[in-house]
Amino acid sequence: KTKNSSLVTRCEIGDSLEEFLTKATPDKGLIRLMMCMGEALRTIAFKVRTASCGGTACVNSFGDEQLAVDMLANKLLFEALTYSHFCKYACSEEVPELQDMGGPAEGGFSVAFDPLDGSSIVDTNFTVGTIFGVWPGDKLTGVTGRDQVAAAMGIFGPRSTYVLALKDIPGTHEFLLLDEGKWQHVKDTTEIGEGKMFSPGNLRATFDNPEYDKLINYYVREKYTLRYTGGMVPDVNQIIVKEKGIFTNVASPSAKAKLRLLFEVAPLGFLIEKAGGYSSDGHQSVLDKVINNLDDRTQVAYGSKNEIIRFEETLYGSS
Ligand code: AHG
Ligand code: MN
Ligand code: MN
Ligand code: MN
Repeated sequence: KTKNSSLVTRCEIGDSLEEFLTKATPDKGLIRLMMCMGEALRTIAFKVRTASCGGTACVNSFGDEQLAVDMLANKLLFEALTYSHFCKYACSEEVPELQDMGGPAEGGFSVAFDPLDGSSIVDTNFTVGTIFGVWPGDKLTGVTGRDQVAAAMGIFGPRSTYVLALKDIPGTHEFLLLDEGKWQHVKDTTEIGEGKMFSPGNLRATFDNPEYDKLINYYVREKYTLRYTGGMVPDVNQIIVKEKGIFTNVASPSAKAKLRLLFEVAPLGFLIEKAGGYSSDGHQSVLDKVINNLDDRTQVAYGSKNEIIRFEETLYGSS
């Protein structure tokens, strides 16, 4: 028996993923799809944890094959979507063309995913993650991030978590992968407050983007805490967990926008805004941007209300 019972009681025993989803939405197809993705994330968590990183890529075995972990994650996610029977089209950062998954267009979903964001930091043992967005029906272009019915990320760090949001309910919800293989509900985020923490991506753009340079100097001058890993998933997740801060990835003529609207920016925008935060491309919420091409890129910021206002005013304000 432990003396310090507060260590034990701090994390309340929460619902399983299935119990949570069943209470959250009447849509059986969506529940099945989110459960199947949870199974894939569990396998990816194991494959990342046991990857061998000797050469140029981190590899793990899958059946008889040896695959780089990002391609292995890609394969597992496509398989999970086929198995769900509710996915019409899917496409990924690694396969940016629509793949017919065999599910119905009506009552089914189309899914876009980044199988392993941060695949170049697996060898250093930094946290990496999977990102996905779920749209109703059979369209992933001509739609916006706001049309998503769900979005999620799988986070593979010291702990593995599945962080998701659903159109039907408020909040962004965190599930912890237990030793026995189940996802257990451990946290809800419904508000993102103010706090001096910054996560500045693509700093090379400050060389020829004076407004971005000015913004970064503001954070330094105001003694913000720097928290940046180079993995968008952990960098954005910390805003949801700490309920404060800002993440920026700004472009310039010499350092163009790299992050993809469909596979990365729109799903994370959905998670942040459902958590009570804000997003912006400098002018508008990233959830209002029409996805014209599967490979569209954009600059982005995620954070609290005042941080996003400061971001837009510093980059494009008149003063
Ligand atoms: P990828 O999905 O190809 O691994 O890209 C990772 C992204 C994102 O996680 C991060 O914010 C950004 O790349 C960092 O880019 P740089 O290392 O080029 O600054
Ligand atoms: Mn990525
Ligand atoms: Mn990737
Ligand atoms: Mn990649």
